[in-house]
Amino acid sequence: MSAAAVLAGRGYAVTLLERGPALGGKLSGWPLRVLGEDVPMEHGFHGFFRQYYNLRALLAEAGADRDLRPLDAYAVLVRGRPVEAFGAGGAPFPLDLLQVLQRSPSLSLADVAGDRPGMRELLAYDPVRTFARWDALDVDAFVREGRLEGTFAELVLRPFGQASMNGLSRFSAAEAIRFFHFYMLGNPEGLGFDALARGVGPAVLAPLRAHLERLGVAVRTGAEVRAVPRRGPRRRVVLAAAGAPATVLAAAAVPEAGWADAGAAFVRRTAAGYEARDVRCTHLGCPVQRAPDGFRCPCHAGRYDLDGVPVSGPPPRPLATLPVAVDGDVLRIGGAAAGDEVVPADAVVLALDSRGLRALCAAGDLPRAAPRLAAAAAASGEADPYAVVRLWLDRPVDPARLPFYTVAGWPDTDSLAVYSAFQAPYVDWAARTGGAVVESHAYAIEPERRGSPDVLRDRLLAELRDIFPELAGAAVRHDEAMVQDDFTRFAPGDAARRPTVASDVPNLVVAGDHVQLPFPAFLMEAAAASGRLAANHLLAADGVREVPIPTVSWRGPLADVLS
Ligand code: FES
Repeated sequence: MSAAAVLAGRGYAVTLLERGPALGGKLSGWPLRVLGEDVPMEHGFHGFFRQYYNLRALLAEAGADRDLRPLDAYAVLVRGRPVEAFGAGGAPFPLDLLQVLQRSPSLSLADVAGDRPGMRELLAYDPVRTFARWDALDVDAFVREGRLEGTFAELVLRPFGQASMNGLSRFSAAEAIRFFHFYMLGNPEGLGFDALARGVGPAVLAPLRAHLERLGVAVRTGAEVRAVPRRGPRRRVVLAAAGAPATVLAAAAVPEAGWADAGAAFVRRTAAGYEARDVRCTHLGCPVQRAPDGFRCPCHAGRYDLDGVPVSGPPPRPLATLPVAVDGDVLRIGGAAAGDEVVPADAVVLALDSRGLRALCAAGDLPRAAPRLAAAAAASGEADPYAVVRLWLDRPVDPARLPFYTVAGWPDTDSLAVYSAFQAPYVDWAARTGGAVVESHAYAIEPERRGSPDVLRDRLLAELRDIFPELAGAAVRHDEAMVQDDFTRFAPGDAARRPTVASDVPNLVVAGDHVQLPFPAFLMEAAAASGRLAANHLLAADGVREVPIPTVSWRGPLADVLS
């Protein structure tokens, strides 16, 4: 979206192809009907930090920033400690750090001063030296080697690091130093951030799409790109045709009633023979699972009835029907595909997440035409899975609580967002019913703690009752639970292998929060800034004026001293 806005703004004819039914990627949202009311749901709580300069510029030009509301503090709730509230300081270094120490009920100068080489490293981020020194190590090793154990690591470093969605034993220490610099020291805004007072769909994505369309961008959703081959000087974008790989199943394996699993399909008997449905969710393609009342998608809690018709969540269409051929005792399911649709293009911006880029770069002529990009994409990966659970409860949250907490000290919970404290229509629902709506997140779930959305929901609910004791006796009136693994991995050694904006092919550029950037940026801001960089790359090749890319400071306040 960010690249499309820049290019369309400079007069290019832009087609934006999105696989899902709505724009936004990891910022996406969808409507739900819960307890008889229409409510917005989203991929998870997002904090719009003030140093997200490129994202916020895009939102401002689209009029999509009107529902951003400042939250008073970035609060960290560590088990057994008073709440730490990091605010929008605004003071320059080192006053910002002193301000944090002065306001903190637990941190003191002794926790950051003295013989702590790691503290100097945090204050001296440098894109070259930091990565040369620390990218081979993980955060746990950095805490040990930097002698950072103690209150600072417990209250600041570990909770913030976990918010990257990367488990600390697998998170590059250099990336963590960059993360710390980007969020805490590299910007004059401090840790001030805003949350959306309405759902992300109506508040952000609808005005963004309208803005793109006003600029002349042809936005096509439900358009899955399968390959980007070259034909002459131009590239062609090939859209995936319907269909699924063929599956063969013994007819006897299909019961008299109900669905049978058949690899990439489900199959059941009908009066006329057999009927098969694709297992891929019609939202973003996650394999759905059978449930007593139909099918359930674990990724965004999409639900289908027993006929494969969506009844809740983001899936826009019924599960695709696949052809079934009866061949003696054997059923051949799927395998038929309609013809490809081709979109010609002078240039292509591949704005995908790491998994999508990996799949696309393994297809068609890209491994040969762009071997450096294909190798970078193949080496990329996703962080450990995470869970998002939203709970509609019949009791209120203590009104003294803040709307959002980063949490540490409980086995699963990493953050809590009290939706009924800041977002419509949840505020209104809570006022009318005397209840509360709380969203709980678990990040970077360790292998031994993984489970289905229901298992994670039960554990997060039990922890919520402990963290907010006023909810100990609360009944759950409704829940939405999802488990996904689509966040970018920042493991030791990944940095140098990451794709760059420019690829081996002049008219093929890359954007996304996993792309190497010359300046510090993460998450939504990395996505937005990389989109502008990618657009600039194409503009520069055509001799067209580029757009400015505002950033936080590129180096830490002590970078020169340590160098
Ligand atoms: Fe999103 Fe299934 S992939 S609900």
